[in-house]
Amino acid sequence: MMAETMKGLKRTHRCGELSLKNEGETVTVMGWVQKQRNKGGIVFVDLRDRSGLLQLIYEESDCGGENFAKAEKMRSEFVVAAAGTVEKRAGAVNTNLATGEIEIRVKETRILSEAETPPFPIEAESRTKEELRLKYRYLDLRRPDLQRNLMLRSAITANIRRFLTGEGFLEIETPILGKSTPEGARDYLVPSRVHPGTFYGLPQSPQLFKQLLMCSGYDRYFQIAKCFRDEDLRADRQPEFTQVDMELSFVDEEDVIDVNERLIQFVCKEAIGLEVELPLPRMKWREAMDRYGSDKPDTRFGMELTDVSETVRGCGFGVFTSALENGGTVRGINAKGQGAMPRKKIDALTDMAKGCGAKGLAYLSVGEDGSYKSSFAKFMEEGQLKALVEAMGGEKGDLLLFAADKNSIVWSVLGALRLELGKQLGLIDENKFNFLWVTEFPLLEWSEEENRFVAMHHPFTMPVEEDLQYLDSDPGRVRAKAYDIVLNGVELGGGSVRIFQNEIQEKMFEVLGFEKEDAYSRFGFLLNAFKYGVPPHAGLAYGLDRLVMLLVHAESIRDVMAFPKIKDASCLLTNAPDVVDQAQLTELGIALADNKEEAGAESKN
Ligand code: AMO
Ligand code: AMP
Repeated sequence: MMAETMKGLKRTHRCGELSLKNEGETVTVMGWVQKQRNKGGIVFVDLRDRSGLLQLIYEESDCGGENFAKAEKMRSEFVVAAAGTVEKRAGAVNTNLATGEIEIRVKETRILSEAETPPFPIEAESRTKEELRLKYRYLDLRRPDLQRNLMLRSAITANIRRFLTGEGFLEIETPILGKSTPEGARDYLVPSRVHPGTFYGLPQSPQLFKQLLMCSGYDRYFQIAKCFRDEDLRADRQPEFTQVDMELSFVDEEDVIDVNERLIQFVCKEAIGLEVELPLPRMKWREAMDRYGSDKPDTRFGMELTDVSETVRGCGFGVFTSALENGGTVRGINAKGQGAMPRKKIDALTDMAKGCGAKGLAYLSVGEDGSYKSSFAKFMEEGQLKALVEAMGGEKGDLLLFAADKNSIVWSVLGALRLELGKQLGLIDENKFNFLWVTEFPLLEWSEEENRFVAMHHPFTMPVEEDLQYLDSDPGRVRAKAYDIVLNGVELGGGSVRIFQNEIQEKMFEVLGFEKEDAYSRFGFLLNAFKYGVPPHAGLAYGLDRLVMLLVHAESIRDVMAFPKIKDASCLLTNAPDVVDQAQLTELGIALADNKEEAGAESKN
């Protein structure tokens, strides 16, 4: 049978919009068959569209033979149109369903399209493997949880636009085909046909263009911008993602924080009905590292780090003392009430610590009788042990875990352990939304790989004025006017006050080890623009995908993107990336290496 058309019918409502209030009305709905139940003489159909489910009822005795025959023929995922009357349900009310009190007594039906049996059921909280779902993403996207996520995402972006436009921001687009940007990940490159041998770089962010817009006097800019970064993927990272990007002129850090706090408050309230109290808490970077071992601390639970370096100085345990002698520290966390944790589990934590760069993990558990069980007690005197337990706030039944090394390793090891234990022990209240500003980041960090200082944010970030004096003598000590906004342990966004004085910018390039020509060849257009009058400016960018992921309680950013990529950056639906015709390559002047695997391995090194 040829599919029918909608001719003469017009949709009057979405399924989920109808309720008892519409009782007696004649309506037309259109959607997908979730389920058809044939009870003999009576057929029920659950019809689905993006707003929800609605029950259609066909009774052979009163709905007409042709109409009933169509109802009997319906299968899951058929697309149908149904016109009829809204009635109070004769049968039991379905309290799980928003439309559970009503049904549509159908007078006319059109089967607009038939459907093969889908490879997996279209249902919430699917247990189907993600690979299969991504291959048939168009079916996966019919599932109510993904539809809800994408609808909320749309509400969030709409409210971001509403708020920022109301605050005098202009939405301006910047190019996708551009030049390499300074965010520090690997670029995606696009070959130029017109200029063989040259490449565009896809933007890692609109950073340079938004600073140019400030030079051009646009004063408050924003953009919902696609960004591209060729980096290792994780649950909260995609090669192609979206930033809510902004830049403001004639402002300082406080102004950026102020407008963004109000933005967060507005969006949370309007999009998901969440009240956010202002001002948001703030923490300096150093305090975040000392207390949580992380520059994006999850403050929904305690188990903070304690520095016990002074307590163990001069003790008999070589692991501790040699770390201290080498300029490192000894710190610990107290897993309250975990004193009876089996050795096997402690070993698993030790392996995890080693995975984060630790040489080992020292532990001490306090028994219910007050006795100690420990990997290092034998090296320490009774008094030293007692002082250590006391410094850790250790009580009967507690498990104390210690790492000794240079600061950066101790922080990352204990920071990761704390999060793991927080999860394992169920210490995290999933209903909390803990926003936090992290401020006063270091301007530079030492790169072992490159054997030089690199910018922690990017090279245009302004140093804290009183630290400028250390740029030469002690660069690692210089703090930046940079800030991150963190939500529940995830870096939501980051930004900084920018350098707008040429001398400071040149000094910055010098400290970063850029030759002047080098800096000009990469960023000359920005540096030149600064010569013609540049306002003081500052900005920030959010990861929109991450913001949506957290606000809708999704586990991965893939669940809030319509067509995400998997871990190896490929798209299971379209098979991208893919080989191209030789003719296309020839036109671009590109010859492939004989052994592609070798080429890949080389570029990885
Ligand atoms: P930054 O590099 O910190 O700053 O990026 C801003 C925010 O973008 C999000 N993000 C990502 N989200 C998903 N997948 C990724 N691969 C990914 N990478 C980053 C994060 C991050 O906080 N131009 C500066 C901003 C500025 O200074 O104004 C910038 O891009 O949530
Ligand atoms: P060892 O003397 O090397 O057997 O170590 C004794 C204990 O100290 C073991 O529990 C190790 O896991 C632990 N340990 C080793 N190195 C470190 C370190 N850098 N920090 C914390 N604990 C360590």
